[in-house]
Amino acid sequence: MAKLLSVSRAARLAGVSRGELQKRIREEKVETFEGELTVELLLQLYPHIDLDADPMLEKVRAIRSEAKPKSHYSDGWMPDPEILMKRLKEFQHVLVQTKSALNASDALLQETLTELQTALQRDDEAMREAVLAATSHLTRAMQRAERAEDASAALFAKDMLLKIVSASVRLLPSGHEFFLEGSESILDAGLRAGLYIDYGCSSGNCGACKCRVVSGAVRKLRNHDYVLSAKEQEQGYILACSNTAISDLVVEASEAGVEEELPQQTIRAVVKKIEPLDDELALLQVQTPRTQSLRFKAGQQLKLTMENGATINLCIASCPCDGRNLQFIVARREGEPFSDALFSGKLQRQTLLLEGPSGGFLLQEESSLPAIFLAAGTGFAPIKSLVEQAIAIDNAEGLHLIQPGGNPKGSHLDNLCRSWNDSLDNFLYTAPPRDSTYDELLDLLAEATAALDQYIAYIAGPTEWLDRLLHKAQQRGMDIHAWHVQAVD
Ligand code: FES
Repeated sequence: MAKLLSVSRAARLAGVSRGELQKRIREEKVETFEGELTVELLLQLYPHIDLDADPMLEKVRAIRSEAKPKSHYSDGWMPDPEILMKRLKEFQHVLVQTKSALNASDALLQETLTELQTALQRDDEAMREAVLAATSHLTRAMQRAERAEDASAALFAKDMLLKIVSASVRLLPSGHEFFLEGSESILDAGLRAGLYIDYGCSSGNCGACKCRVVSGAVRKLRNHDYVLSAKEQEQGYILACSNTAISDLVVEASEAGVEEELPQQTIRAVVKKIEPLDDELALLQVQTPRTQSLRFKAGQQLKLTMENGATINLCIASCPCDGRNLQFIVARREGEPFSDALFSGKLQRQTLLLEGPSGGFLLQEESSLPAIFLAAGTGFAPIKSLVEQAIAIDNAEGLHLIQPGGNPKGSHLDNLCRSWNDSLDNFLYTAPPRDSTYDELLDLLAEATAALDQYIAYIAGPTEWLDRLLHKAQQRGMDIHAWHVQAVD
């Protein structure tokens, strides 16, 4: 049986997104084997794979270094020396097996050649000619084999090399697959890939991330307070937040489904930073305690309560992959207690009570259709979260973000949007003037979707802006049924 590659691994070897590879498979009508494809098929789709580069890794690294909050994403994309040695040992094991198989077939060929040469000594002329032809054919084939560097062997070598830097993890029963870079924990890698794996504290205290290793080897990253019974350990149970992968893994783990609601949580968090975006908007960053991360889905909201009891509902502007460092976009609103406290500097270092999550403005994760995002003002909060999730799961054929006015030059959000645009082949960022009319924005939307048979649009902005945009779209006869909308004030 030919070696099969999962779509994630094949996409990574070819240096394209999963969405792009899935589109190619559909367009070329190639036959896959229960979602997996052969090395030969991959080479047929991408004959010019760059065997020396791993563009996906480069892209991820570029986005991380330019835009991700440094507190969560360390620069340690390389495994620590101990893990590296263990992976190299695995690599050595595979090489030994491969070389042994080659030696055995080499010896077999040599033996066959000797037998044939012995047969040549016989007197039978017809037999002599047949053997002579077979011998020279075999000799030429062996010479060719010595010189050849066939593409599938080179792809095999590249796959092995990538496995040294990153192990792949497949979750059961969902079949979701993700890569674990450097020495990060299985939980962190799964969250970074946009999965809603069950967890609580992310620090080894609560046991909510308990999962069972079905195959592969893991290594503990730290000692944890949560105690696994001897029986559980014997059965292969580990804590995903406290272990990393040494080799490719298959793990039984609980995940929240797309439709499933996450538990309601109440967490106290500290205001870490307030960054003005312009005269009217500010980016608020809060951090939960080390032992309590918030579980939420991209696009959801939270209720925030200040120390004086004033409350506000805000859309979360950050990625669900980091449940400790949460971002929100707050609009200046005179007389509104939360906004007044924030813009007057009184919110600095306050402790906020977070309650939630709530809201159903969610990413259609199973869809690989191109996604268009349109965000105005505070609507950029849920849209940013959705875009980060869409990038993490890497499922959509293309992503196009339209943001009237863009973000202030040099701000964290400006850097982020630029790094998405520059680093991802399937991402486009457009920032028309802030005072673009509804017609101009709808023209942009029509232009962005003109060549698409199907697409999904996510639109968020202040209630009045959104109502007028939808009204105008209906007047123009645009089909707004594929649009997911969220009013954000
Ligand atoms: S998330 Fe709490 S122990 Fe892993």
